[in-house]
Amino acid sequence: MAELALLGGEREVKEKDDISWPMYDAAERDALIEVLESRAWYNSSKCQEFEETFAAFQDAKYGIACTGGTVALEMICRGAGIGVGDEVITSAYTFIGTCSGILKAGATVVFCDIDPDTNNLDVAEVESLITDRTKGIMPVHFGGLACDLQRLLDIAERHNLVVLEDAAHGWGSTYRDRGLGSWGLASGFSFQQSKNMTGGDGGIALTNDEAVADAIGCATNVGRSRYGRTEESRQWGGNHRMTEFVAAVLLCQLKRIPEHTEIREQNGAMLTRTLSEVEGIEPIHRLEDATRVNWHVYGARYLSEAFEGVSRDAFVRAMRAEGVPVSTGYEVPVYKHPVFQEDWKARDYTPFAWTDAAQDYRSLHLPKVEQYCQERLSISQRALLASETRMRDMSRAFVKVRENADKLRDWERSNHR
Ligand SMILES: Cc1ncc(COP(=O)(O)O)c(C=O)c1O
Repeated sequence: MAELALLGGEREVKEKDDISWPMYDAAERDALIEVLESRAWYNSSKCQEFEETFAAFQDAKYGIACTGGTVALEMICRGAGIGVGDEVITSAYTFIGTCSGILKAGATVVFCDIDPDTNNLDVAEVESLITDRTKGIMPVHFGGLACDLQRLLDIAERHNLVVLEDAAHGWGSTYRDRGLGSWGLASGFSFQQSKNMTGGDGGIALTNDEAVADAIGCATNVGRSRYGRTEESRQWGGNHRMTEFVAAVLLCQLKRIPEHTEIREQNGAMLTRTLSEVEGIEPIHRLEDATRVNWHVYGARYLSEAFEGVSRDAFVRAMRAEGVPVSTGYEVPVYKHPVFQEDWKARDYTPFAWTDAAQDYRSLHLPKVEQYCQERLSISQRALLASETRMRDMSRAFVKVRENADKLRDWERSNHR
């Protein structure tokens, strides 16, 4: 049996990682120069072209570009008329930006536990969280994997709620062959640097509803009409506009998404096939309706007891020594962040200052997500762009470390306990 690289053996992954991120080429360079020389640096043709192109790419009617994903989520809450006194149900396994978007609109975040098989919110629990203040459900398609949208839309219809998709990871992913972000009343995407397509930062809100598009555009453009430039503000609103430089870069980045998604799909499928055979590793479950997945982050669960009691940290160390860039993902559910755990009522200024129904999150305990954070393994989109050979070796490394679980257990006992 091959010796673990951690114990001095040869690495399973031999091919070099030659992917630099973010990717760019002459197209981005030329597009940036074009904007520079045009002197039209804001609120002009590149943003409009990007809004139309990206919305069509995701099968939505309208796009409103903005400065980031967090802002896009705030803007869609505002566009949907959600504000102070309202509650929005969302997943407890997400980035803080999901919560900030809801809170910045003035509403209260209500966390839903997750389905550990899919890493997305557990639809079966949503209805039990609905109160007479609930106005919306914000599912997060975490890692680019679609939530069970039809069931959520049915719940929303029964209770007269809106679905606002956190599609921050949704570029190119589909549900029932239609783009993520085109299903709810509105959605928000992120183009921050780690994302499958990036402008360094940046975001976009999508909707199929013209009135909602106008309301989002107004909230994004200091309370003016969507592309207005004059003194016509009809409500208070920040300046959250995307610049022409970012839009120009994103138009180039979008062109790579179809091919890259195809590669990540194939590599993700290879991983799933291999991991299904590895005792103690549960690859993420993809709903049949998740017809295309961009694998922004591929997830799996590590079950220590089925692995001779080897801790997840030791497993990750062994995998990294084999050349697999696996990590643990979020170590805690988002409601465990200090900002949710402090005694916010005792402070002069808090992110909840303008919500009148803020919750005390310190007593919140959602067992499935808390367990999941202890078990999660993540592999990022960049790693999933690997060549077939590199990906095969990465998959094999899981098998190799599994076969050596007893040796890893002994190593851990003698070194780290
Ligand atoms: C699930 C999720 N929602 C929202 C956001 C916020 O996006 P941004 O960082 O562009 O503000 C992110 C960013 O990583 C995210 O991962």
